[in-house]
This record gives sequence, C-alpha cells and structure tokens, in this order.
Amino acid sequence: MSVAIEITDQIAVVTIENPPVNAAGLEVRQGLWEAVDTLDADPQVTAVVLACAGRTFVAGADIREFGKPPVEPHLPDVLNKIEGAQKPWVAAIHGTALGGGLELAMSCHGRVALSSAKMGLPEVNLGLIPGAGGTVRLPRLVPPALALTLAAGGKPIAADQALKAGLVDEVVAEGLVDAARTRAKTQALTPTLTRDIQGTLDEGFDKTETGILRKARGQKSPKAASKAIRRGATMEAPEALAAERAAFTALKQDPQSAALRHIFFAERAVGRSARTKVVTPRALAQIGVIGGGTMGAGIAAACLLAGLKVTMVERDAEAAQAGHDRVAGILGNSLKRGLISEDKHTRLMGNFLSADRYDALSEADLVIEAVFEDMGVKREVFAKLDEVTRPDAVLASNTSYLDVNEIAASVRDPSRVLGLHFFSPAHIMKLLEIVVPERVADDVLATGIALGKQLKKISVLAGVCDGFIANRIMSAYRRECEYMLEDGALPHQIDAAMEEFGFPMGIYRMQDLAGLDIAWAMRKRQAATRDPAQRYVEIADKLCEAGRFGQKAGRGWYIYEDGKPVRDTEVEDLIVAESARKGISRQSFDAAQIMERILGCMQREGRTILDEGIAASPEDIDVVMINAFGFPRWHGGPMFMAQAT
Ligand code: 3HC
Ligand code: NAI
Repeated sequence: MSVAIEITDQIAVVTIENPPVNAAGLEVRQGLWEAVDTLDADPQVTAVVLACAGRTFVAGADIREFGKPPVEPHLPDVLNKIEGAQKPWVAAIHGTALGGGLELAMSCHGRVALSSAKMGLPEVNLGLIPGAGGTVRLPRLVPPALALTLAAGGKPIAADQALKAGLVDEVVAEGLVDAARTRAKTQALTPTLTRDIQGTLDEGFDKTETGILRKARGQKSPKAASKAIRRGATMEAPEALAAERAAFTALKQDPQSAALRHIFFAERAVGRSARTKVVTPRALAQIGVIGGGTMGAGIAAACLLAGLKVTMVERDAEAAQAGHDRVAGILGNSLKRGLISEDKHTRLMGNFLSADRYDALSEADLVIEAVFEDMGVKREVFAKLDEVTRPDAVLASNTSYLDVNEIAASVRDPSRVLGLHFFSPAHIMKLLEIVVPERVADDVLATGIALGKQLKKISVLAGVCDGFIANRIMSAYRRECEYMLEDGALPHQIDAAMEEFGFPMGIYRMQDLAGLDIAWAMRKRQAATRDPAQRYVEIADKLCEAGRFGQKAGRGWYIYEDGKPVRDTEVEDLIVAESARKGISRQSFDAAQIMERILGCMQREGRTILDEGIAASPEDIDVVMINAFGFPRWHGGPMFMAQAT
C-alpha cells in the first residue's frame, strides 16, 4: 500500500496504490491526509492530480473495516481537507469510482475520466448510504433526480453520462493523467460544497423516488439514501453533512447492513475448490448445446453474449429451427434494449449454428445438455455424445434433479462429465450450480468453474443429490408450505407472509406463474418410490387433476382476472376438505408463524445438506437461496439468519 507523490512542472501527481481495488482503508486515508499538508506547504507545487495505480480508481471505503471501531483520520475529514486544500486537486478516474471513491473524486476541484470508467454510489447494496459527503456533494454537481438514482438505486453510470450530467468535467479515450495535469494547471479552487442548488428539486425527483422505494421492498437503505439526497439538495451543507454521517453510522450498525456485507463477501468466496488450485482448465472456444427449449436457448444466448461460439443440436430440422428462433429472439431483444450494438448482434449471430445432427459437435470443447428431464433420454444423448465429441471435450448436464453420477456412467470416460445447472432465464439469472459427480477430473471441474467466470455467473459447487442445493431446499420448504395448508393456512396468507418478509412473490403465486404441470409430472414419476410413511399432501395433485395448471390456464392456486390473482373459494374449500379428510383440526397462522416454519425448514434442510457434504459452507447455501429464488438479500440468507439469532 502506498500513497506516492511525484512532482513535475509544478504539478504533483498523487498516486494511490492499494490492490486489488484501491479501497480507502486507514493507510490510504493517512497517506492522503499527509499529502494535502505536504503539498500545501510545497512552494514548487501549483496544483495536484489524484490518480490510482492498477485496475481502478478507489472503489470505495474498505468494507473489511466496517465491523471494527473506526480509526482516524475518518474519510469525511480527509475529503473535507482535500476540498479545503490551498491548491486545486483534479481527480483522474479510471475503472470504477464507487462509494467513498466517487466521494473522494467529488471532493476534488475538478474531475477527468477515462471513457471506459464508471461511477456510482453502491452503498445501498451494503445496507448503507454514502457516508463521506456523497449525498451532499452529488446534488451540487448533477440534477437531484440523477443523484437520487445513483445513491438510492445503487447502479453506476458510464463516463459519457457522467460528463453530460456534470459529474465529471472532461472525458478522454487515453492519456488520462496527462489530461488531468493539463486541466490542473487552470483548475479553479471552488469547493463543490459551496455551490448553490436551492430550488432544484422537482417532480422528476418525486417520480424517481416512488419507483426506487417500490423496488426496495423491505430494505431500509434506499429509503435512507433518498431522504439523505433530499436533505443534501435542500439543506445547508454543514447540517446535511452531519445528518448524513449520523444516518450512515446508524445503518452501519443495523442487522441489514451486516447481512448485506455477509452476502457481498460470500458471493465472492463461493465457486472455489481446493481441487482446482493447481490445475489448468481446458480451453473453451466452441460450446455445444443439446436441446433448444427454454433452457437450451437461454444457455446458448448466455454463451454467445460471453463471446463463445455455439452449436445447438435439436431432434429434427423443425426443432432446430425453433431453437434457432428462440436464441435469435433473445439476442434480438438485447439489441432492441440497447444492450448490444448492431455490429455485435451480427457478430454473435454469426457465431451461432443450429443443427439437427450430433456430428456438428465434433469440434466442441464443452457440451451442455438441456433436453427433457428424463434419465432415459439423457443417457441416450450422452451415449451419442460419447461417439461424436473429442475425447477431451467436457460434457455437462443441466438436469434439475437427476443423478449426474448415473448420467456420467453412460459415457466411456465419466471423468469428463459434470453438472452445470443454470436457472431460468439462463442468460439473465446470475446463479450457476456446478454439480460435482464422484468421478469428475479436477481439470474438468476447473473448466466448469472457468466457464462460470466467463459467463459472469456466481458459481456454487454442489454435490450430487436430488435437486442439489437450490431445488432440494425449495422442494423442502414447498412441502412445508403444503403441510401448513393442511394445518390451517391458506395460499394467500402464506404468499402475503413471504412477500412481507421480502420475497418478490409468494410461493403459490410463483408456482402459478411457472405452471403446476411439470412438478405434477415429477410427483407422478416419484409415486412408486415414495416412502409411504412420509406425510404427503394431495392438494396440488387435485388442482392439476382439475386442469388448474396455473396462470397460463387462467386458474391454479388462484383464479386470474385480467392477469391478476384472486382468491378462489373452490381452492380454499378443497384445502379445508383435505384437512378434514385427514382428521386435522385447522389452526390459524399469523405471518410470523408462517415465516418461522418456512425459515426453520430451510435451515434444517440446509444443515442436512452441509452434513451430507452437498454444500461446502453455509455461505454457499445463502448465496444460492438469494440468487435462485428471491430470498431477500437484506436478511443475508437462511443460514446467516440462523447464526445471527
Ligand atoms: N473494500 C474491501 N474489499 C473490497 C472492496 C471494498 N470496497 N471492493 C472489492 N473488494 C475486494 C473483494 O472482496 C475481492 O476480494 P477477494 O479477491 O479477496 O475475493 C476483491 O476486492 C476483488 O473484488 P471483485 O471480485 O468484486 O472484483 P471485480 O473486478 O469483479 O469488481 C468492483 C470490482 C466493481 C470494485 C467490486 O468489487 C465492487 O463492486 N466492490 C464494492 C464497491 C462498493 O460497494 N463500494 C462502496 C463501499 S462503502 C463506502 O464506500 C462507504 C463510504 O460512503 C463511506
Ligand atoms: P424444454 O422442454 O423447453 O426443452 C427441451 C428441448 O430438448 C426440446 O426443445 C426438445 O426438442 C429437446 N430434445 C429432447 N430430446 C432431445 C434429443 N434427444 N436431442 C436433442 N434435443 C432434444 O425443457 P427445458 O425447460 O428447457 O428443460 C431442459 C432441461 O433443463 C431439463 O433437464 C430441466 O430439468 C432443466 N432445467 C430446467 C429449468 C427451467 O426452469 N425450465 C431450470 C434449470 C434446469
């Protein structure tokens, strides 16, 4: 770690070097504090450039310090000192200037950014608000509605947008530090905090605020950030700064922030394996996908968007065309939404081939199977892959529940088989379960992990069992909810409790949306092997027998009027009748009791999964639950909650 000073032609360049992301930890703060004193006192120096070494400008305060008592100099004081320096400071921004990093840049008197740079205030994602003047300086530089989007929405903006909005003064494609030096020579010494912004709050602000607060559901920090920006845009700077600091300190001690910090680090810790440390992953350029249905098309699109070539194989020419159209639809949407350029779209479609012959996969480096969820069909597909693929090609199954050891046994060399379990829609959902069968080779596992990285997924390793981590826990709490239906709860009560807890949607609304028929087919398949001693709830089967397949059928757990779910007495009568048939006397449940049973069940299943070695750590389970099924991030995951209570 260092804060180095180099002086040429009366301009000092202060360079922060604190890998990997130049976080503003104690030593950086001390270094900057001293740099202001040193440079103020140096008559040779007329202006200062603040730059960073390595891959990024300061990406924030050091999150690892948050659990510990704060040590002086505090970041807000360092920033005030820079703003009050006797010589102008110009920030030279590359990479990501985030949180305390952007606040640092805003305390400088001028800002130059590289065109690839991004800037944002992501503190809300950690359950915080900016705590070093961000909510006071930002509305003095950009329109308050944009300040609100940045501080309460938590997403960064690109350099060109920052330039348009007034957050930076200049954007350059290259030669960042030189451009900042040139600007520093004429930079005025006006502090951001002295800018007058009275009367800039408008209707646009209120509208943005409503949208952000709706999205926040039970999370506190977006609301706090929004309040802080309001104060920042309306109050005198000193009062607004003091209020920001008080709010930041209170939030830092809130359990929501502890939970969000837990998940921040957990998401970065997962997807590693001691087995792959010293092995080299196999090269990946050409991916095969078998099946062009919902998942195959999403997986193909994800691979194409990550720069890989994809060949998709379907059963016949018609299905191959349908699969092709699905992928084209996804990429067409990305183009329409401005996520990719015309050029890129053309290039990606050029990297895609849809075929009805397996020998199109002779050059594939890795093949992902996404055909029907049926062991017979999967084994047949793998036997064909065994014949047509290179012997060193990695073979993966996207199965949701089936035994990947058994799938692997259908090829001559099972060491090249693993599970890559994507979530729907596969090109959007961040989670990837990497399923580790008994005989998989270390470098095959490493290749799966490398693919996850290339696709920018959050990968979690899982052992082989029915449903791996995500679907196994989901099946368990789904069962628990059905027990509760028989014991006295109704679907809308369970959904309301889950939504109040923070899930975007309750389990019955979710099932209606996904369709009830697939799970019904699976239950019928499992009927023969089901333990007769296990409690079994027949309500869902009876709904399916009545053709209530969910929203697509207009009726499921609810009936749908203009696309909106409405309670249905037919369903509720059926539930009550099932309780009576089993001799269960129905009891009432309040929201807290419902959540206690759901969370208790997730935690019990989670502990069993850990005991069986299916998941390596409680963090893995938390990361899965948050990224697979909308478990509210600000609770940190079921295992975090169990340990926190
Ligand atoms: N403090 C401490 N460590 C940090 C950090 C931070 N602010 N940001 C990232 N790291 C660590 C990560 O934990 C990871 O460590 P590891 O290698 O041991 O796992 C390493 O840096 C690299 O991070 P990523 O794997 O995330 O690297 P990427 O290149 O994918 O992303 C990034 C870089 C965009 C900077 C991303 O790390 C990020 O979003 N960081 C968080 C930024 C943030 O939230 N800043 C605000 C902090 S709160 C604050 O500033 C309060 C202030 O207002 C007072
Ligand atoms: P789907 O029914 O939409 O698609 C399956 C496709 O496979 C069909 O287009 C079919 O023509 C093709 N196919 C069948 N046999 C084939 C063969 N022998 N050769 C080539 N193509 C063949 O099914 P979906 O939903 O895409 O699921 C596929 C797999 O992904 C299943 O194993 C499923 O359990 C799993 N999965 C599904 C998720 C979902 O949310 N739908 C999530 C994660 C995994």
